[in-house]
Amino acid sequence: MNKLILLTLFLITVSAAMPADDKLADLFYKRTNCKCETAFSSFDSSSSSGPFRGFVAFGQDESGSTTIFGAFNRGFNPDCFYEFLIENEHGKVLYNVTRGLNVQVKSDGSTEAFTHKFKNINLDCHSNGILLGGSNMRDSVSYCSNKKFVVKTDNQHAAKKICK
Ligand SMILES: *[C@@H]1O[C@H](CO)[C@@H](O)[C@H](O)[C@H]1NC(C)=O
Repeated sequence: MNKLILLTLFLITVSAAMPADDKLADLFYKRTNCKCETAFSSFDSSSSSGPFRGFVAFGQDESGSTTIFGAFNRGFNPDCFYEFLIENEHGKVLYNVTRGLNVQVKSDGSTEAFTHKFKNINLDCHSNGILLGGSNMRDSVSYCSNKKFVVKTDNQHAAKKICK
């Protein structure tokens, strides 16, 4: 009889404890799964920047989410609609970040600073990481992915490599 009560108590305790343990394990796994990594796309004076000047930075956290933040200081027309995309080396759209970033264009052609955390975008934690599949630049030590951050309107398509 005593053994039966003990066994029942044991089973209740175990079943009550399991979900919490799973959650804890999950949390621990998520926190330590990815390394923190950063990357950037610089819209400088090169022709591939089009009229846009500014920077876009990428920060991957330990859970594998990536925060994209940045600002532009010129090149935008407040009357135009801009798409913000991440494309692969063949110009195929991998991620459409337009809605997430919700970039606000100001009357002087600059933008407000923007930031958004994308749970579905990672830099190098999973096999589809946007930093993977690139090479070191010929003339420097910096590494660039073959993926690009793109600013697009009907008649403009500026694409800058995502580098670290
Ligand atoms: C990207 O998203 C915006 C806003 O939702 C949409 O207007 C646009 O057509 C999309 N572009 C692509 C290439 O999916």
